[in-house]
Amino acid sequence: MTRNEILSAYQFRHACKSFDAKKTISEDDFHLIMETARLSPSSFGFEPWKFLVVENASFKEKLKELTWGGQGQIPTASHIVICLARKTPSMKYDSDYILNFMKNVQKLPEDIVDLKGGFYKKFQEEDFKLLESERSLFDWSCKQCYIALGNMMTTAALVGIDSCPMEGFDRDGVEALLTSEASVDPNKYGVAFMVAFGYRETEPMEKTRQALSEIMDVI
Ligand SMILES: Cc1cc2nc3c(=O)[nH]c(=O)nc-3n(C[C@H](O)[C@H](O)[C@H](O)COP(=O)(O)O)c2cc1C
Repeated sequence: MTRNEILSAYQFRHACKSFDAKKTISEDDFHLIMETARLSPSSFGFEPWKFLVVENASFKEKLKELTWGGQGQIPTASHIVICLARKTPSMKYDSDYILNFMKNVQKLPEDIVDLKGGFYKKFQEEDFKLLESERSLFDWSCKQCYIALGNMMTTAALVGIDSCPMEGFDRDGVEALLTSEASVDPNKYGVAFMVAFGYRETEPMEKTRQALSEIMDVI
């Protein structure tokens, strides 16, 4: 891949407000997008995310009611993903999730589990002070989720698929909907973001960004 092809994908990606409802993303392409979410980095590698692919039509209707920032996107998108972020019960240093993750996903030997667990405890308690409130830890989980979001949107753009990230929704309302209709445990997960994928109907407006010289300093 050339530099120009990479930059073209970044130019191609825009927050698509309405998709061509007649076009569907192939299973292969959607799988590719989700693989790049799965392979995304996360702090300590603890993957504090879960991705819900919304297919149910009546759920979609209710989701639209709660999503002011997705009025054109939700009814027309080929695929909609809601990203859940893990909360304190599973992300705290001494949780079963974290211990199991180090042993069985990361396959670390016991002495390394103890060492890494110690760093993670210090990181949460002292360095980043994530245990001061439930919100601090949830927001930290959300930060990891947004890395996957960036990768998903860039991958989509690289294969000619449009997307729109969405935070324009009533979070409490969406979480209540997920609890009642998708059995999501509100103590375990909160909503980080939503993202819609599909194919544009019209060309976007020209991209506006500050110059690199305004956002980058050398120190
Ligand atoms: C985390 C996040 C949440 C966003 N939420 C919405 C949203 O709810 N609805 C929407 O139409 N656009 C949303 N956007 C799109 C931004 O407004 C858009 O990315 C920005 O204006 C830059 O434009 P561009 O992406 O077309 O280059 C969101 C973007 C991000 C990164």
